[in-house]
Amino acid sequence: MQLLSSSSWNLFPIPSICLTIVLLVSLASHTSSCTEQEKSSLLQFLAGLSRDGSLTASWRHDTDCCTWEGITCNQDRKVTDVLLASRGLEGSISPFLGNLTGLLHVNLSRNSLSGGLPPKLVSSNSILVLDVSFNRLTGGLSELPSSTHARPLQVLNISSNLFTGRFPSTIWEVMKSLVSLNASTNSFTGQIPITPCVSAPSFAVLELSFNQLSGNIPQGLGNCSMLKLLSAGYNNLGGSLPDEIFNISSLERLYLHRNLLEGALSGISKLTNLVTLDLGGNRFTGNIPESIGDLKRLEELHLDHNNISGELPAALSNCTNLVTIDLKSNHFSGKLTRINFIRLPNLKKLDLLFNDFTGTIPESIYSCSKLTALRLSYNHFNGQLSEKIGNLKSLSFLSLANNSLTNITRTLQILGSSRSLTILYIGFNFRHETMPEGDSIDGFENLQVLSVNDCSLSGRIPDWLSKLTNLGMLFLQNNQLTGPIPDWISSLNLLFHLDISNNSLTGQIPSALMEMPMLESDNTAPKVFFELPVWNKNTLMQYLMLSAFPKVLNLAINNFTGLIPEEIGQLKALVMLNLSSNELSGEIPQTISNLKNLQVLDLSVNRLTGVIPAALNNLNFLSEFDISNNDLEGPIPTGGQLSTFADSSFDGNSKLCGPMTLSRCGSEGAGPTSISYTKQFRCKVIFAISFGVFFGVGVLYDQMILAKYFG
Ligand SMILES: *[C@@H]1O[C@H](CO)[C@@H](O)[C@H](O)[C@H]1NC(C)=O
Ligand SMILES: *[C@@H]1O[C@H](CO)[C@@H](O)[C@H](O)[C@H]1NC(C)=O
Ligand SMILES: *[C@@H]1O[C@H](CO)[C@@H](O)[C@H](O)[C@H]1NC(C)=O
Ligand SMILES: *[C@@H]1O[C@H](CO)[C@@H](O)[C@H](O)[C@H]1NC(C)=O
Ligand SMILES: *[C@@H]1O[C@H](CO)[C@@H](O)[C@H](O)[C@H]1NC(C)=O
Ligand SMILES: *[C@@H]1O[C@H](CO)[C@@H](O)[C@H](O)[C@H]1NC(C)=O
Ligand SMILES: *[C@@H]1O[C@H](CO)[C@@H](O)[C@H](O)[C@H]1NC(C)=O
Ligand SMILES: *[C@@H]1O[C@H](CO)[C@@H](O)[C@H](O)[C@H]1NC(C)=O
Ligand SMILES: *[C@@H]1O[C@H](CO)[C@@H](O)[C@H](O)[C@H]1NC(C)=O
Ligand SMILES: *[C@@H]1O[C@H](CO)[C@@H](O)[C@H](O)[C@H]1NC(C)=O
Ligand SMILES: *[C@@H]1O[C@H](CO)[C@@H](O)[C@H](O)[C@H]1NC(C)=O
Ligand SMILES: *[C@@H]1O[C@H](CO)[C@@H](O)[C@H](O)[C@H]1NC(C)=O
Repeated sequence: MQLLSSSSWNLFPIPSICLTIVLLVSLASHTSSCTEQEKSSLLQFLAGLSRDGSLTASWRHDTDCCTWEGITCNQDRKVTDVLLASRGLEGSISPFLGNLTGLLHVNLSRNSLSGGLPPKLVSSNSILVLDVSFNRLTGGLSELPSSTHARPLQVLNISSNLFTGRFPSTIWEVMKSLVSLNASTNSFTGQIPITPCVSAPSFAVLELSFNQLSGNIPQGLGNCSMLKLLSAGYNNLGGSLPDEIFNISSLERLYLHRNLLEGALSGISKLTNLVTLDLGGNRFTGNIPESIGDLKRLEELHLDHNNISGELPAALSNCTNLVTIDLKSNHFSGKLTRINFIRLPNLKKLDLLFNDFTGTIPESIYSCSKLTALRLSYNHFNGQLSEKIGNLKSLSFLSLANNSLTNITRTLQILGSSRSLTILYIGFNFRHETMPEGDSIDGFENLQVLSVNDCSLSGRIPDWLSKLTNLGMLFLQNNQLTGPIPDWISSLNLLFHLDISNNSLTGQIPSALMEMPMLESDNTAPKVFFELPVWNKNTLMQYLMLSAFPKVLNLAINNFTGLIPEEIGQLKALVMLNLSSNELSGEIPQTISNLKNLQVLDLSVNRLTGVIPAALNNLNFLSEFDISNNDLEGPIPTGGQLSTFADSSFDGNSKLCGPMTLSRCGSEGAGPTSISYTKQFRCKVIFAISFGVFFGVGVLYDQMILAKYFG
């Protein structure tokens, strides 16, 4: 009988099966709706919200709750899914949601829900997937009575909330089906929880980064035999990696970035399934073991900011799937030519900044045709750049700064033809060579950043720069360039950051410089991400895109003569203006007070005369100001921003007087700064407000006078 019915089922023509199913489904939906109890649980949930993202319109008492927005039911008209991500919900998550006995999937991610996470949801007898990530939930996870039976929860995502406290262990004991736990970006404390490793045989994803976990990495993690991802970066974990962790051969991604971990890396090569290894920002020591070559699947290797030393093992060439190698800020030494880069055809980023590598740049690197970013700066590479670098058709970021490379003419000739290059740092090389001029250099059509600082180069600001129409930042400081600032400078339509300080440039400040489009307007540089971050040396702030850099004109320490042009007032977008240590004469133009964004103004060590324009008091963002060592006279304007600077800002002007200088103003000197009482008062108020609001910004740029960027 059974045999007969099953075979007759098989013989059923397919269209009629479909018909039957369609009939059944439509029949069901017309004959019954969700139960009053389920409906009321959902309405209780709605009642707990203070902003419901217009759910009320759809969640009406007189309709079947299975038809409500965000709700799905099964054939038995039981609610299975509550999917309300990104709805703008505010308020709390009602425990009544836990009354829905058929609930399988709950997604309340990306709202503004607050309060606690009802324990009833976590320990539900039906829920498989619970995602409450990206809310403002607080409190901790509650313990459960230890006798409670197994729960079906498979995926728990509570990341990006405000949870605190330790992870309770009993809660995990009953989660026998748990596969993935994401608790990143909260404020959890205590140790990494290991109970799921023991109780949940399929546990595969443990994501705990951006919390306040401490202690050692527990040995018990070794029992997580199915773990594929372990992430606990940006915590306070200490000690060394326990041997047990190297037994988790299933591990594909290991992120422990920015902790306090120490010891050697010797066991790491047992993790032969690793695709991503990120141990950056710790205190690891020793060498990279030769056995690293066993990690055949490795794509991402991040060991930056540690204290790892020795030569790179030749076996690294056996990790043929590598896409990123980040070893910056360590003590690696020896020749890079040990690595056969021909065997790394997928390599896109190689970052060796701040190490002690020696010898020449290995030719084999130029076979990595997918390379987009190559940073070898602050090492001891020598020799001349190979023209084979032209093979790197995707290379966008190149930094070779502070090595001992020679022949700048050849270097620029080779690199000029790269159409992909956008960022180029080659400073601190080519000592005492001459800046190439004329038609010998061509190309660089997409270059946005060019840094050829600190090379003691002689020669002039070269004409070929005028063709770099995409240039946003130009660094030529600390060379020995002579001659004037060329008039074509204003044709660089996108230039917003120019540092030509500490050269031997002469002539007047050209009026062309007062017509720089980017300095006249609020337009920002393109918001395109750099392939690698660049830092500010003083603040150690990290810059990831061009538009984040300030608009700067730095002409200090040269031999510029003549007046400061009145037209300087056109450069309204300037954040820093440094004309210090030149031979500039005449008065400080009143128009400087138009530069409302100015945070740093340095006119010191020149031959400026006349009085300080009172209007400078209106530069409310100014946090660095220096007019010392000129020949200025009269009283220092009071009652505004200038009163906030110390004597040293005004020193070396014997005819200057005021409360802040040695010589108090006599009655005859009080003339030029007669701003009315009410105006002074207003200035004070404005100053107080802007100081309060922009204090942070001011501090940020506090050290900018000498700010340099390294990349
Ligand atoms: C929850 O919804 C968000 C937004 O639609 C989505 O990105 C996320 O993957 C969902 N969560 C789960 C577990 O599917
Ligand atoms: C529904 O849940 C609430 C809060 O958890 C509880 O007080 C109530 O007894 C439950 N109602 C039913 C019918 O289960
Ligand atoms: C929460 O985590 C789960 C499992 O990893 C994932 O599927 C889901 O997309 C995550 N939610 C969001 C909003 O990313
Ligand atoms: C965990 O959640 C965070 C967001 O809070 C997300 O960035 C991360 O990719 C998630 N991790 C996993 C493994 O899903
Ligand atoms: C890990 O498993 C071993 C053997 O199965 C067991 O002896 C040990 O207690 C477990 N570790 C923890 C922390 O439970
Ligand atoms: C790793 O696993 C092997 C074999 O499964 C076992 O003999 C060894 O004791 C384990 N080592 C650690 C440190 O757990
Ligand atoms: C780095 O490691 C060396 C030994 O290789 C040690 O002498 C030195 O103190 C370490 N430096 C730091 C900052 O830990
Ligand atoms: C690379 O791996 C092969 C075996 O796959 C091995 O014979 C060779 O010695 C390894 N090369 C290096 C440099 O370790
Ligand atoms: C450049 O590198 C040398 C060592 O090669 C180092 O002494 C010097 O401080 C570096 N220059 C800068 C500006 O960091
Ligand atoms: C520098 O390179 C050029 C080719 O661009 C070459 O003619 C010249 O000889 C090189 N100079 C030195 C000192 O090697
Ligand atoms: C100016 O540049 C020279 C190198 O050309 C350097 O030695 C000197 O320290 C620099 N001066 C300042 C103030 O930076
Ligand atoms: C400026 O020129 C004078 C001579 O005219 C020279 O002594 C001085 O070193 C020059 N200063 C700079 C910074 O080049």
